[in-house]
Amino acid sequence: MRPQLDEARARHAELCGQIAYHNYRYHALDEPEVSDAVYDNLMRELLALEAGWPELVGPASPSQRVGDTPRAGIAEIVHRLPMLSLENAFSDDEVAAFDRRIHERLAVDSDIEYAAEPKLDGLAIALFYRGGRLEYAATRGDGTTGEDVTPNVRTIRAVPLQLLGSPPHELEVRGEVFMPTAGFKKMNEEAAARGDKTYVNPRNAAAGIVRQLDPRVSASRPLDIFFYALGVVLGAEPPARQTDLLAWLRGLGLKTCPEARSVRGLAGCLAYYRSIGERRERLPYQIDGVVYKVEERALQAQLGFVSRAPRWQIAHKFPAEEVETELRDVEFQVGRTGALTPVARLAPIFVGGVTVSNATLHNMDEVERKDVRIGDWVVVRRAGDVIPEVARVLKERRPADARPVRLPETCPVCNSPVRRDTDAAVARCTGGYSCVAQRKEALRHFASRRAMNIEGLGEKLIDQLVDADLLRTPADIFRLSAPQLAALDRMGDKSAAKLVAAIADSRATTLPRLLFALGIRDVGEATALALARHFGDLPLLLAADAAAIETVPDVGPVIAANLAAYIQDPAHLRLLQELRELGLHWPTITEPAAAAQPLAGRTYVLTGTLQNSTREGAEEKLLALGAKVSSSVSRKTTAVIAGRDAGSKLKKAAELSVPVLDEAELEKILAAGNGRQEP
Ligand code: IVH
Repeated sequence: MRPQLDEARARHAELCGQIAYHNYRYHALDEPEVSDAVYDNLMRELLALEAGWPELVGPASPSQRVGDTPRAGIAEIVHRLPMLSLENAFSDDEVAAFDRRIHERLAVDSDIEYAAEPKLDGLAIALFYRGGRLEYAATRGDGTTGEDVTPNVRTIRAVPLQLLGSPPHELEVRGEVFMPTAGFKKMNEEAAARGDKTYVNPRNAAAGIVRQLDPRVSASRPLDIFFYALGVVLGAEPPARQTDLLAWLRGLGLKTCPEARSVRGLAGCLAYYRSIGERRERLPYQIDGVVYKVEERALQAQLGFVSRAPRWQIAHKFPAEEVETELRDVEFQVGRTGALTPVARLAPIFVGGVTVSNATLHNMDEVERKDVRIGDWVVVRRAGDVIPEVARVLKERRPADARPVRLPETCPVCNSPVRRDTDAAVARCTGGYSCVAQRKEALRHFASRRAMNIEGLGEKLIDQLVDADLLRTPADIFRLSAPQLAALDRMGDKSAAKLVAAIADSRATTLPRLLFALGIRDVGEATALALARHFGDLPLLLAADAAAIETVPDVGPVIAANLAAYIQDPAHLRLLQELRELGLHWPTITEPAAAAQPLAGRTYVLTGTLQNSTREGAEEKLLALGAKVSSSVSRKTTAVIAGRDAGSKLKKAAELSVPVLDEAELEKILAAGNGRQEP
């Protein structure tokens, strides 16, 4: 006899709970309580139940980890709080300096307590849970906007679809997706046996698999995750110390690194670094250093952060791997701004997990300082994903016929004269846009993901288009036609039509993206954003002189001068004019952009008397961060903020299970929204 729907629903909930719990024991704690057979039975019962009552299948059901079909593309997610980066230390001295700065800023003499954790070599990810259910997962991206990788992340067994215990109303938790070394080796061996593509290292594998489009692929790969930080939390007070926070996360079913420890002072940090360093090779996953974090959140808040990195944590990196090889030749590459970079051609050598045959020599000053000659034996260094470099020359092994490296007088690509700025180490091709190498690099940058984001317009295609003289300036991109594209190598009608559509889509852009895409020297993403926010639209920026540009926050005299020179050049003004005529458009920035509205989509109700501000004042601040403020409590209310003598609204909130926060919590939300409290 089929049980009634209510009964089925109750049993289904019970099974979901049990399976989530056993998943957690197995994947997060590595301490299963039941045999595989018992687990399989629970799963089978769940699937049978769902087959009979499809309405029970929700996104949090354990049956939903693997089902999804491939997606057409990846959407973007704006982080509610920016995901920052870490400062690096490469020596004990640099860690000591970090510890000293903290003592000075906090004006304390006694040892600081730190949480010490391995620095995992994977991919940073943010997971968002509402009411304990996984709602989305996003990559770090540029820190402000990441990629929506929810379907893939759902397939990672260690990621709970439903949190355990009493999860907060909203929880954004951050961690690192990685591939354990053993799983990586096995996966690569199997791929090689099938004749499929192999990955160079576990980090690339994890990043590639999380970001690919078919979740069925991720489901079959051995990905794992450790959580280590919080983003936005609503409706709970997380523990006030980092190591307690990790324990709290574990209680919610979120796996954390078992190597994390609380240590005392600089000596404690360095001892931890040595101990992990000794065991590094035996750990089941790859790490590239350790991270020290001030334990106490109150102290973290006092320390705040500089530019993009919190002052209260630092990564202590392991030394980069070094190997010796022969330098066969030096060639010069021409970059986007014409800079000539000497590149060493090496006898191929395996270092840092990959075979390297080129290494950068940075610039001619470096070549001269290191006294690099062609034919030398050199030490090559490669750390993580950074470009391998020539660290030093083994002079004792220098052959008699070693030749000095000469800066060419003319550009190896376009033959224009090369000029070495008198005050700078950099030599540049003076050909500008007429140099094919500069043109290709500039176009590549213009079309790239973080700039105009023209999907499908990659390096090889740009090479072809420039070589065929179909592309000279960025404006030409918007003049390309499907037949022109279809005539190119390895392009069919279909891909040509797709690219034309992608180009058309990219016309709707934003001012920061456009400014960044132009590739003005020293105008990176952050500066482009600051400029756009300050001037609001292009005409006002174009009317500014260097002095006016220098008033923009974080813009110094050098950038201001570069930018002023750029906008005074008639060729650039023509380009901007053409781009507009070709249909590029962007919204004027009159109010904080979405990224500056971390509370968008939330509704608060204020009630009672606040101590530190008026209700109006608090309302204004919430509105400024994008929240709505309402006078009545409903199911849609994110939270009620209650001051002294709050009345009937609290009752209503309790009835509807809407979280109630006090003034201190309100202040935290406001501080976090203003970017002052990011872990
Ligand atoms: S804390 C402020 N803890 O390192 C952002 N990060 O180099 C840092 N990482 O983007 C968050 N292990 O992907 C933190 N135990 C750990 C980490 C860790 C690896 C990564 C993370 C971050 C990058 C910065």
